[in-house]
Amino acid sequence: MAQMLSISRAAHLIGVTRGALQKRIREGELASFDGTVTTEELLRLYPDLDLEESGGFEHVTQIKEKAFAKRVRERMLPSQEVLAQRLFFQSEELADLRRHLSHYHNLVLALSERLAAMSLAHPSEPLRELATTLDAGLARVLGSDDKTDTLAVMDDVMRVMSARITVKPSGGEFVLQGPETVLEAALRSGHAPSYGCGNGNCGLCKARVVSGELRQVRPFDYPLSSAEKAQNYALLCCNTAVTDLVVEMIEAESPGDIPEQHIAAKVKSVTAAGTDTLVLHVQTPRSSRLRFMAGQSVSLGVAGGTADFQGDYAIASCSCDDRNLLFHVPREEGNEFAVRLFAGAIRGGDSISVWGPWGDFVLKKDSTRATLFLACDTGFAPVKSLIEHALAVEAAESIALYWTATRADGHYLENHCRAWADVLDDFSYHPLTAPDESAAGTEAARTAISDLADVAERDVYIAGPEAFVQSARAALLATGLLDSQLIVVTL
Ligand code: FES
Repeated sequence: MAQMLSISRAAHLIGVTRGALQKRIREGELASFDGTVTTEELLRLYPDLDLEESGGFEHVTQIKEKAFAKRVRERMLPSQEVLAQRLFFQSEELADLRRHLSHYHNLVLALSERLAAMSLAHPSEPLRELATTLDAGLARVLGSDDKTDTLAVMDDVMRVMSARITVKPSGGEFVLQGPETVLEAALRSGHAPSYGCGNGNCGLCKARVVSGELRQVRPFDYPLSSAEKAQNYALLCCNTAVTDLVVEMIEAESPGDIPEQHIAAKVKSVTAAGTDTLVLHVQTPRSSRLRFMAGQSVSLGVAGGTADFQGDYAIASCSCDDRNLLFHVPREEGNEFAVRLFAGAIRGGDSISVWGPWGDFVLKKDSTRATLFLACDTGFAPVKSLIEHALAVEAAESIALYWTATRADGHYLENHCRAWADVLDDFSYHPLTAPDESAAGTEAARTAISDLADVAERDVYIAGPEAFVQSARAALLATGLLDSQLIVVTL
């Protein structure tokens, strides 16, 4: 029997991105009703779907296989209590279904007996035909090896392993996996909820649960008032979802919705990514996480003897990466912060101040267009953050990255990009080189224009030095792209 699935759950089940499924809906290839699709429709569109090879099944299989390793089990599986509660809810559904089935079964038997009795009492050809047709129809339905049933069973398994969260009023959706809190799942999925400490102290992640069951998995100190408790308010950072949830949640719509923060953090490590590029890993304290949108920048400050040294850098990590902030710092002679970092004067364990976030180089909200990223040297840092965010929200139909290097170690994280291209169907990576920043912009834009037939349909993100951004922008506008399609940041 066909079952309704949300777009997110359907994509999860068959192992494609939400963006890929939405594209097929937009193009009229897949019928959807109120944000849902039927298992029948899915199998019509993916007739060769091998459930054992599909993403959803693979995911569940991986979970099962790895379930024997305690550490992995703790990370991948919901807690025993949550699993038990989910199974309890499903067993209630099953019992309800059984009651209904039993009624229908008795009804069919009674109908069949009645027909047989009528045939005996009043033998006639139409009655015999009706009885035969009924028997054949029942045999066909009961004996069918329907793939939609298998999809529905897979969906039931996924519902035990994960929970779907629907956000009000935005209508967004995400899946909570394993032992995640609702806040962790929201951030991992690319949402921008309100939060602060991440551990139950500040109350900023407070949200109203409209429907569904939560389970507290962390202690918290923030005092929810009795009125808030009565209205079903809960802290998203301290609760996981036992069932699918509908949650009224405050989300940042744009960078302007995120307050400026000042956080006293620690340097976790400084590692060389190339001869002239360092990756600076900063970790915020457990009690205070930086709230930002992927692609934004911050100011960093360290004390050095009698003076303080500051640098402005784009965050190269995703807001889903817990307390970790990564920065790509190029060697720059006139920049004292960079000079000290390259000289080894800033080390793991040192205190570092983080101010921000700032900047509006963020993904266009709700855009499902294909994207084109143009980066030059360490302009890759905010682009990496945006790509990770785009992959998390699964919205873009396809992603093309053109990364132009103007110096020897300009492609300092090339393996990272190649890994994306290897793993993702709709991701292409194009490393380029150029003698200077201006030529780099022209080269990146012209190559992308000649490679991609649909450049005019894409959202284009450009990050790098001023000369790179200006030349790339000019080349793109000259081909008829609209200025509104370009999102740029100069570094
Ligand atoms: S209480 Fe601070 S983020 Fe949840």
